[in-house]
Amino acid sequence: MATDKIVTQARQVDCDCLPRHIAIIMDGNGRWATKHGLPRTAGHKAGSQTFETIATHCRDLGLDYLTVYAFSTENWKRSEGEVSAIMGLLKRYLNKAIDTMEKENIRLHFFGDMTPISPELRALIDKAHTMSARRTGFQANVCLNYGGRDELVRGAKAFAQDCMNGKWKPEDLSEALLSSYLDSAQIPDPELVIRPSGELRLSNFLPWQSAYSEFYFSDILWPDFTAEHLEQAIVAYQQRDRRFGGVK
Ligand code: FPP
Repeated sequence: MATDKIVTQARQVDCDCLPRHIAIIMDGNGRWATKHGLPRTAGHKAGSQTFETIATHCRDLGLDYLTVYAFSTENWKRSEGEVSAIMGLLKRYLNKAIDTMEKENIRLHFFGDMTPISPELRALIDKAHTMSARRTGFQANVCLNYGGRDELVRGAKAFAQDCMNGKWKPEDLSEALLSSYLDSAQIPDPELVIRPSGELRLSNFLPWQSAYSEFYFSDILWPDFTAEHLEQAIVAYQQRDRRFGGVK
């Protein structure tokens, strides 16, 4: 029954011109919880279930990459309880994913500065990265303690260090070389960036990689975002005229 539903929905999407990579700002968990008279942490729990549904649907449709914004460099400003609830959800998800990614040929990557992340969570992330290196299938990237500006600063520092070590000269720097120093190295830029919850901004999410992305905004709060909403976004993307600065 569930499979029939996916096939029916997929007919609306042109599977011959799918984006390879979709990026999503998983926004609106707090407002969803308030709307239902629940604590904010319940919104994040519901949001993590939505992430699993959407990641599975992206894989079933035939996409290669999904990147989601789970925790920004600015999200440390939230209460200790909310931060530890999000970290707990990530741990729970990782424990489950590590058990299934081998069987399902799924890759899992984390973007961001892992320095302040707890040793326990980092050990799980390292394990997921090691296991992913042996796989070739669909890849989910989770942005954790991620900020686009921070990513560029970390990349620039690493490039400068390599210049000091004699690997490069400053004049060698190109867009491709700088890209290779970012968390997203070797991953194609997202063709489509989705932000649910009615907010109309990028919030420091993949600013370099989204230079030519198509944007799709929706009023749906992330925990209510379904496979059908994802397909609506893909159909909208497929109707766009992408010119990359050229003329058609
Ligand atoms: C933004 O909504 C959401 C977050 C800052 C946290 C997202 C985290 C998860 C969905 C859980 C862990 C993820 C995975 C991949 C298992 P908000 O809290 O800013 O919502 P609001 O704008 O309504 O307050």
